[in-house]
Amino acid sequence: MSQRTFSIIKPDAVRKGHAGAILAEIEKAGFRIVSIKKASISKAQAEGFYHVHAARPFFGELTDFMSSGPIFPMVLEKQNAIADLRKLMGATNPAQAEEGTIRKKFAASIGENAIHGSDAEETAEFEIGYFFAGYELK
Ligand code: CMP
Repeated sequence: MSQRTFSIIKPDAVRKGHAGAILAEIEKAGFRIVSIKKASISKAQAEGFYHVHAARPFFGELTDFMSSGPIFPMVLEKQNAIADLRKLMGATNPAQAEEGTIRKKFAASIGENAIHGSDAEETAEFEIGYFFAGYELK
């Protein structure tokens, strides 16, 4: 059954001009782009999005980074979308990411790691709703 997930092309990848190449990888892997936009979020918006990480030592760094420049939030659809996108992205730390993954190709560090993808159905639902209204998701 088809499933939706949420993804963000992060500020480092946008700054380096990798957004198009990352989208091409996503489409090549069989995802349908349900919705996509360009956004620049505030630190407070980044804190709300990443609230589950609020107690982590890297929370300040993460939310500074995510509010440092334009991003491309998007909703993607395919069978097994959540797990398949995480596989395509590769490990959070690009040094541990497998050959051929998006993070291996485009990420510089564990913080500046090019792309985000939801880790479960409940988080996907929260994250999609954080950036998109129902009328943008048809
Ligand atoms: P993401 O999938 O967007 O979800 C949480 C993010 O926190 C994660 O990607 C990383 O970019 C970031 N992150 C995780 N660990 C660290 C760390 N040790 N230092 C900085 N950022 C981190």
